[in-house]
Amino acid sequence: MAATGSTAGAKAYYVSTPIYYVNDAPHLGHAYTTVAGDVLTRWHRQRGEKVWYLTGTDEHGQKIMRTAEANGVSPQEWCDRLVADAWKPLWEHLGIANDDFIRTTERRHTDRVREFVQALYDKGEIYPGGYEGPYCVGCEEYKLPGELLEGEGGEKLCPIHKRPVELLKEENYFFRLSEYGPRLLEHYEAHPEFIQPESARNEVVSFVRQGLTDLSISRSTFDWGIPVPWDERHVIYVWVDALLNYATAVGYGADAERFEGTFPADVHLVGKDILRFHAVIWPAMLMANGLPLPGKIAANGWLMVGGEKMSKSNLTGIKPQDLTSHFGVDAYRWYFLRAIAFGSDGSFSWEDFTARYTSELANDYGNLASRVAAMVGRYFGGTLPEAGTVGDAERALHEGLATAVAEADRRVGEELDFAGGIAAVFDFVKQVNGYLTEQEPWKVAKDTSPEARDRLATILYTAAESLRAIAVLLHPVMPSTSQALWESLGAAPALGELADQRVQDAGTWGRLPAGSTVTKGKVLFPRLEEPPA
Ligand code: MSP
Repeated sequence: MAATGSTAGAKAYYVSTPIYYVNDAPHLGHAYTTVAGDVLTRWHRQRGEKVWYLTGTDEHGQKIMRTAEANGVSPQEWCDRLVADAWKPLWEHLGIANDDFIRTTERRHTDRVREFVQALYDKGEIYPGGYEGPYCVGCEEYKLPGELLEGEGGEKLCPIHKRPVELLKEENYFFRLSEYGPRLLEHYEAHPEFIQPESARNEVVSFVRQGLTDLSISRSTFDWGIPVPWDERHVIYVWVDALLNYATAVGYGADAERFEGTFPADVHLVGKDILRFHAVIWPAMLMANGLPLPGKIAANGWLMVGGEKMSKSNLTGIKPQDLTSHFGVDAYRWYFLRAIAFGSDGSFSWEDFTARYTSELANDYGNLASRVAAMVGRYFGGTLPEAGTVGDAERALHEGLATAVAEADRRVGEELDFAGGIAAVFDFVKQVNGYLTEQEPWKVAKDTSPEARDRLATILYTAAESLRAIAVLLHPVMPSTSQALWESLGAAPALGELADQRVQDAGTWGRLPAGSTVTKGKVLFPRLEEPPA
């Protein structure tokens, strides 16, 4: 974990992932959202902004309690074990630079959740009542009868987990969610960017228009949760507890300066299955307590396997580590964002990953980097020459780069269109390859006249300078590969650390100084072994 964020001064650009249930180890679907958030926040850090990137784990509720019981340990022991052995190590392995990791069993969270809920109770926003309905433990949510599927034996199934729901009857406490419909609709109307993509926004709007029912916010049939402060026979509903992580992790009720410098989140990244919690319940909770609403709820699609949502029980055996050991961590980070339009569902296949790796990473990008370094070595002894006369071909590249920078900055930084932003950079990679193919520096090198030397210097300088910009633009997506390229270009002595390079300035031409020492460096994208059978 690289803690690079800070909370002093202006408000930080604050991005969160969902906090994950620790009933099992993380899978590709969890890693997908966490990598997306990492790329988004690295991008903003490289714009020079103050950033706060939060992830963590959701540790209360029946689902965790039952898993711990089945494994013969206490729920706390189970959570501690999973966090330490599975969750934190995976994020470290994937190069996730989160600024904090919140666990809902921490005192900094539990104490503040009690205060928040007590404040709502004191305002009359919470009242005692009764409820009976079908409950899915997988979702930790009461379902509406109309949403359920019918199993082969006539039993009612959760539409997401395809497992039987349980009929739950409880006396518990309710939050007056039903009263917030009109204000929520007004907010969606006034802030069309609040829910992304459009399809998700439409779904939420029509759900709220149908009318909201009050939300049961406590449970009394089990005790693995945060006790309700005014009635300790109950624990707080796990979703109310979980959503509050976004506030407690940044100092809610504990550190006013930090809280004001960070909260609310600019972007909550969520899977589409947990959209309503974030776009309906969470803003209503905030409204009820007079707190500001987040800037955007961005719903991503699901990674699918064989037409089904990839899940802990439907993994087809592929773990993130199986893919990183084959393709490398950077290619892994790149692939899912490059191949799937953010917001849509996407299927994973070894064939598609292999094809894209080979054509875009190894052939287009990796070869470009190694060819340029090799030619600077061969023709100029590894010292980057000064560019001579610049012609139309070079000017076209300067323009191509300016377009790539503007597109990538808008798409990744503003629109969360990772696939589009990455594609813009790879279009430029292709353009540089095309430039070399046309200019044929290897032929120019055969001519030893001063004009030809001048031309050769211009071509190689132009290509190396293009790579300098590519390294900067791809750094948020593929940090180690960009770092290796940065070193091979000998950029650090003149330009400083790669992480300090501004993405929006990457197109300023001529930054890499002539005289830099260019070395061959390591192969960025090695040839792949045969995939495991
Ligand atoms: N604990 C709640 C979130 C609380 S946030 C205040 C939760 N946890 S989860 O572990 O079940 O799921 C976390 C996220 O993983 C959700 O956003 C969910 O959409 C996502 N994914 C689970 N399977 C997925 C795929 N197959 N593909 C993409 N994302 C998926 O819900």
